[in-house]
Amino acid sequence: KPHSTVFSMIQPTGRFHLGNYLGAVKTWKDITTHTPKESNVNLIFGVADLHAITVPKHSAAEMKELRYEAIASILSTGIDSDKAIVYHQSAVQEHAELNWILSCISSMGYLNRMTQWKSKSSDVGANASLGLYAYPVLQAADILLYKSNLVPVGDDQSQHLELCRSIADSFNHKFGKTFPLPNTIFAPTKKILNLKNPAKKMSKSDPDKLSCLYITDEPEVISKKIKKAVTDSIMTEFKFDPENRPGVSNLINIISGLQMKSIADVEAELVGMKSHKEFKDHVTGLIIEEFTEPRLKFNELLKDREHLQRVVNQGNDRARAIASKTIKEVKQKVGL
Ligand code: ADP
Ligand code: NA
Repeated sequence: KPHSTVFSMIQPTGRFHLGNYLGAVKTWKDITTHTPKESNVNLIFGVADLHAITVPKHSAAEMKELRYEAIASILSTGIDSDKAIVYHQSAVQEHAELNWILSCISSMGYLNRMTQWKSKSSDVGANASLGLYAYPVLQAADILLYKSNLVPVGDDQSQHLELCRSIADSFNHKFGKTFPLPNTIFAPTKKILNLKNPAKKMSKSDPDKLSCLYITDEPEVISKKIKKAVTDSIMTEFKFDPENRPGVSNLINIISGLQMKSIADVEAELVGMKSHKEFKDHVTGLIIEEFTEPRLKFNELLKDREHLQRVVNQGNDRARAIASKTIKEVKQKVGL
């Protein structure tokens, strides 16, 4: 019978922000909701803790906490852990094992072209680690370990997914058909930008904490951050024009993602708004509405560590059961 696997991951580098939510996790939730319990679709959503240590900046105690928070963030959006496998990457050692095997067929020339490596390594300079450089190969191993067909991620990941397909294709050519070439499911929302500097994407690693909206932000905090968000001096029109009006366009994009409406429909609804205050109040209200339930659920989940640990243990076991089969097959094909 036909069988398919949906796979994605998020790093435990802080609470989810609006970009993670609209760019990825909302899609995970929607897919999970629409998948019947008894189906032959595997849903796998992982916490990429091995990726998080490519830029080491957290103590062991902080990392432990962040790994719990990431699980709580996934569950807080309403993803049902009986339907979806929710787990910690580092608990499934096969990720590291496949990473090495794929590293040996990945070309450095290709990795050198990764724009995320270029920008992240220029941030940390000569201290950029081998792990940071090889990150996209580990990401390919993550995806291929479960023979995933569909990978819902933000559009900032398209280059890495392209690399993943290329690695899968090389492996299949060298060792015989093993991996499907995974397709990307891009969220309908375009990249969400930094509220204070819309030349950059919204990211939890940004030092300016007002630039990023977290799903756990209290209503007053959301309101303050949107008030401080960069817009422009054109008062009478709210039009989507990313090149000339990046701040306003970012907020329109956010409305479009939250309301699941096209940009054109959002623009039409904004006709008649008289001020930036009115516009921003509208955005603020929508964000508060969307995040209230996840925030309350997140806070509740974090108080019950035993429950979180049970969910992770169950997810780890289910993930391992699939991963160990793939590794066995891969090693056999490679002759190991
Ligand atoms: P971050 O970049 O904030 O550290 P991750 O690298 O953990 O987040 O990304 C997790 C998911 O969120 C990925 O699928 C990524 O494409 C998506 N994502 C991250 N930032 C944004 C953004 N600003 N807009 C849209 N999607 C995003
Ligand atoms: Na990212």
